[in-house]
Amino acid sequence: MPAFSRVTTTALISVIAPAASSFFLCRKQSLLTVARCQESEQEIIIVKLGGSAITEKSVFETVKKDKVHVTCTQIATASRLGKRHVIVHGAGSFGHFQARAFGLRDGGDESTWRTGVCQTRSSVLSLSGLVIKSMLDASLPATAVTLFPTSSSHKGRLFSIGSLANIETLLSLGFIPVLHGDVLLDSSKKCSVFSGDKIMLWICEHFHGTFKPKLAVFLTDVAGVYDRPPTEPNAQLIKEIFVDYDGSVSSISLYQ
Ligand code: IPE
Repeated sequence: MPAFSRVTTTALISVIAPAASSFFLCRKQSLLTVARCQESEQEIIIVKLGGSAITEKSVFETVKKDKVHVTCTQIATASRLGKRHVIVHGAGSFGHFQARAFGLRDGGDESTWRTGVCQTRSSVLSLSGLVIKSMLDASLPATAVTLFPTSSSHKGRLFSIGSLANIETLLSLGFIPVLHGDVLLDSSKKCSVFSGDKIMLWICEHFHGTFKPKLAVFLTDVAGVYDRPPTEPNAQLIKEIFVDYDGSVSSISLYQ
């Protein structure tokens, strides 16, 4: 029987299932989405603060301070109950504008890509500073771990990771590592954009040492997971989605 955990938050939630998950679950009203990864004694909970949950996505570099504050308070409550966390956040209106303007997803232009990388990273890092400040205000020992430049990609796929050992060291010392969607140096196209969702998947797939992901929680601005964009008529809230180990969806049940 799989174990479920309940985390409530006013930030709104959706989910992307890591391939390593055996299932994920959404409970109506609790605003909870949980992806179950693996179980062990040194369990960690990884939480993705989606860009839409913590920023006004359409308004340049605008953070939803109240949502960040409430989320950090709830992570602090879970931490006091002995849960260890890794936090991953997206970019939202920090970083996406710059990455798009410089075409970084496709490697950018030969003469401007460096400027694009620096401006995108500067923007995302400023959001990371705000998230970490809010976590510190909630008495959480949060500190940044960036993928750039120790990790790199090839054709947009993660190629080398320099941060795995760092994250485990920080966890073993009682810190809360905070990662974020980032720009990577890419061996085939100069640079690529690596999303926080891919970091979540990577953690689920690669943490087999002392610390093993127990839950992956995705916070967005949508109250649950729907069978189509929730703004569309007849969108149905999904109750449970069962995912095979290869990441394919095996079944879905809806609330009646
Ligand atoms: C994007 O990260 C990183 C950039 C540098 C642009 P995400 O793709 O995880 O950001 P959100 O959650 O969709 O905003």
